[in-house]
Order: sequence, then C-alpha cells, then structure tokens
Amino acid sequence: MKLLALLSLLALMLQEAGTASLPKTEREREGDQPRGEGDSYAVLHLGDYVLSLDNYDQVIDLSHYDELTDYRDQLPKVKGTSLASPTRTSFTQSTKAPRTPPSNPTMARPRTLGLLVSPTSHGLPTCLICVCLGSSVYCDDADLEDIPPLPQTTAYLYARFNRISHIRAGDFKGLTKLKRIDLSSNFISSIDDDALLLLPALQDLILPENKLAALPVLPTGIEVLDIRLNQLRSSGIQPEAFRALEKLQFLYLADNLLDSIPRSLPLSLRSLHLQNNMIETMQRDTFCDAEEHKHTRRQLEDIRLDGNPINLSLFPSAYFCLPRLPTGRFT
Ligand SMILES: *[C@@H]1O[C@H](CO)[C@@H](O)[C@H](O)[C@H]1NC(C)=O
Repeated sequence: MKLLALLSLLALMLQEAGTASLPKTEREREGDQPRGEGDSYAVLHLGDYVLSLDNYDQVIDLSHYDELTDYRDQLPKVKGTSLASPTRTSFTQSTKAPRTPPSNPTMARPRTLGLLVSPTSHGLPTCLICVCLGSSVYCDDADLEDIPPLPQTTAYLYARFNRISHIRAGDFKGLTKLKRIDLSSNFISSIDDDALLLLPALQDLILPENKLAALPVLPTGIEVLDIRLNQLRSSGIQPEAFRALEKLQFLYLADNLLDSIPRSLPLSLRSLHLQNNMIETMQRDTFCDAEEHKHTRRQLEDIRLDGNPINLSLFPSAYFCLPRLPTGRFT
C-alpha cells in the first residue's frame, strides 16, 4: 500500500515537473502569467492528495525515494541540459523586465496553494514544492523566500528565480554531498558566515543577479564562483578570501562595484572576469610575483578588465607571467 501511494505521488510530481522546471525564458515566452488554470489544477490536486493523508512523512521517505527513481547514472546528463546553467540572455531579459513580487499569494489563491508556497513554515516536504530527481533538487521559479529543507542526499540544488533574500547558517547543514548551489536571480543580500563553510563537496557556487555587497566565507573545494550582477564592493572581499581556494578555476565578478582587483588569487585560476566594475588601478604584483621571474600563471588565460576606468598601458610590468594580456583599454 505504501509503495502504491508512493508511485502515484511520483507520477504526480513528474507531471508537475513538466511545468515547474521550465527555464524562465520558456515561461516568459508563454507570457509569464501568474500560474494558469491547468497549473493550479495540478498543484491543487497534489495538495488535496497530500492533505487527505494522515501522515505524509511516511509516504515521502526520501531515502527510499532516491533508490526507487535511481537517476544517479544520468546525473552528468542532467547537469548538462538546459536546466543546468541559465544563459546570459535570460539575465538580460530579466534585467530589462524586473519581476515584480506577486501580491500575497494566500490572499489571491486557494488555501492549499498558499500552503504549498510556504514550505518551511508549514513543514510540507520539499519534494512536493520542488522536483527531486535522484540527487538533484529543482526549485526554480517557486516563489520561495527561504532555502527549503533539503534531502541529505542532495548534490545539485537549483533554486533560480525566487525571492530568497538571506541564507542562514543552518540552511545547508549536514549536506556533505552538495556539489552545486545555483541561486541565480533571487534577492540575496546576505549570507551567514558559516552557511557554506562546512560543505566539503561544494564545487560550484552560482549566485548571479542578487544583491550581495560582500562575499561569504567560502569552502576550500570551490571551483566555480559566479557572483556577476551583484553589488559587491572591494571592502566586502577579505584580503585573503581566495588564497586558500586551491581549486578555484573560474571567478566571475563582472558587473559589480569593485574598485580594485582581488589579491592573493590562487594559481589554479583560469578565468578572472572583472568587466564593468570601477577598477582604476592595479599593483605590480597583482598577477605576477616580481621576485620570482617565472611563468607562474600559465593557467590564467582569460582576464577581463574591459568596462573599467583603468588604463592598462600604465602597468607594463604587471603581466610578464601571464600567457595573455588582459582584455581592456591599452591606450
Ligand atoms: C594610458 O597610458 C599610456 C602610457 O602611460 C599613455 O600613453 C596614454 O595616453 C594613457 N591613455 C589615457 C586615455 O589616459
């Protein structure tokens, strides 16, 4: 009986996945109306189903759910699909037409729907609001205001286009398998200091189009850090913030309010994007160690400083260890 209930629920969730996990651009193409009739029906139906059960915790047993679906082998594929990384186009579009937060959903919508959009306060399982496939959790465009409680097995979290404004210390607690956090296009203005620090598997932290003025403390395994289109200031980056990140390869900080190039960049770095900031100057040793005249940064092939007031011709001795000159103004 339990298995039967679980299978029915799974079918409903996969049906819901068809609309819930569409990338923003596609939904916009459809007019981006508030959830239409068909959509509400699916959610309501799901809500009724769940609320009629005495104890839905028994139905959604996440450890069994994971084994039942067994999408693990497909993970690399899931990561590479259109769900994985939003394109630049989608950012531009949503910048042009900023999303206005909908009015209080509980007022305009049936009560069950109100319950579904407030997962943490009402304790509904996350995999009813989001789509859980194997170790991936998709919560795109789900009106979330907080990070929902996540299954212990979560490796990939996508919660783009929501209204999350703050990341708390306990939000990712104990998620030792978490590899990728994608919170593009939210309203995140602060991240508690130890919210990300104890995530040993975290490789990709994807936070473009938020409101961060300062960087959080980062776990040392991080490989891709994307904080484009925020309000980062140089004073919000600790002087040694990147020194210990020996696996960091891609550092994307374009379109912020930085007035200097971050110091102590690790040798693992391959791309440093700083275009469209307010950088006017650099030190002789920003990239190259003047003491040690060796080619120490063969990896760092892609430095972008265009869109900054800096005159790169003024620092001829700053690039000797780089395989290529930075992109920017050399006149
Ligand atoms: C940039 O610096 C170079 C080298 O000092 C100088 O010749 C050039 O005029 C400067 N350009 C501007 C726009 O200040």
